[in-house]
Amino acid sequence: MNILVIQPGFPNEVPYFVRGLARQGAAVFGIGDQPPQAIPEPARAGLRDYLYVKNLWQREAVIPALRQWRPDLKIHRIDCFWEAAMELAADLRVAFNIPGLTPEKTRGFRDKHIMRQVLNQAGVRNPRQAKAESFAQIEAALEFTGYPAIVKPVAGAGSADTYRLNSRQDFERVKPALKKIAAVVVEEFITGTEYTFDTISVNGHILFANVERYEPNMLIARSQEHLSPMTISLRDLSAPHFQEARAMCTTALNALGLDRGFAHMEWFHTEKGEVVFGEIAARPPGGDAGMLMNYTSDFDVYNAYAEAMVHGRISQAIERKYNVAIIFKRAKGNGRIHAIEGMQPLRKKWGAHILKEDLLPIGAKRRDWRQTLISDGYIMLRHPNLDTTLQIADDIAQNVTLWAR
Ligand SMILES: Nc1ncnc2c1ncn2[C@@H]1O[C@H](COP(=O)(O)OP(=O)(O)O)[C@@H](O)[C@H]1O
Ligand SMILES: [Mg+2]
Repeated sequence: MNILVIQPGFPNEVPYFVRGLARQGAAVFGIGDQPPQAIPEPARAGLRDYLYVKNLWQREAVIPALRQWRPDLKIHRIDCFWEAAMELAADLRVAFNIPGLTPEKTRGFRDKHIMRQVLNQAGVRNPRQAKAESFAQIEAALEFTGYPAIVKPVAGAGSADTYRLNSRQDFERVKPALKKIAAVVVEEFITGTEYTFDTISVNGHILFANVERYEPNMLIARSQEHLSPMTISLRDLSAPHFQEARAMCTTALNALGLDRGFAHMEWFHTEKGEVVFGEIAARPPGGDAGMLMNYTSDFDVYNAYAEAMVHGRISQAIERKYNVAIIFKRAKGNGRIHAIEGMQPLRKKWGAHILKEDLLPIGAKRRDWRQTLISDGYIMLRHPNLDTTLQIADDIAQNVTLWAR
């Protein structure tokens, strides 16, 4: 099977998927705007060949370049793990007559209004929602959703330009920020715990599913710098709300027409016990979530994905053994890291459960926490018991401090 991967070196975990596909026997080709020498080693090891293009977004140049590149190459599949290139992948499928998500289906994953319309029709419990392209339309939409509400871009990512509105005054306050966004969706605000539902499917069957809990909800995590947000991959998915989420997410996949590949969904569990759909992307989750999956079950999700894509099955036994938590840290102060406090006692107390410490070293420049959830680094741990996992994670959130100046 010849697979073309768009941007095989980015984001973070894509190189492992590329290597996995090659290990499963696929001939993997890449196209991207990263110079070949910038592509991380695992991807290079997996790639049979790579077409470097200066501008990946210019269809009129990229399509002929791809045609001329290897005239005898018959591409069977196009894989895209990067949200920004989903439409490009769909357009290339059309140009080269390759099965997979079409441009029309891709819109269901990229446009949060179309997504809700399709899912409402399929009977999925969505927040009340309306699209708006002017302040007057937002106002009308707010009549329909009521307060509190969420306003977010129709095609957003990473909680960018997403606002919770508790009142009319909040709406007035965010108006200047909303001006630059052409189209938004306004939604009923759902109060509850936020989870993911991440799947690998083949022929409409889910072969692997993983659930992570966001602590706190992603919007709060991405808007309050002083917090140490965490994501916890959960061991025990037997509670009824997880079963309901599974049924809801299966309906969503079918309705949107993703019968093959990775999907990353988000959903809420409200205090009343209701399960409500958040959103969906036709790719694996970001933030190094593959690692969390691997440590949950002591397996290799990159390989499992590749086996599913190339051979239509996952033959590794997958047992959920641990809760895995990743705690993202943001330094106090600006500039460069000059001290890291609190790790030593934690190592003494919980060392056996800590999997990885990947904090920025002393002297490193702080990252932009608004741009990257990873922020100034993370600590990852695992434990079979969820309460203990949360206790250790909390200890790390409260008592590890990076100082910058
Ligand atoms: N209707 C809603 N009710 C409550 N919170 C929401 C709602 N929509 C979005 N959010 C919050 O905002 C975050 C970002 O919104 P989301 O739809 O996931 O867009 P993005 O593509 O930016 O991830 C969500 O993870 C959630 O915390
Ligand atoms: Mg989201």
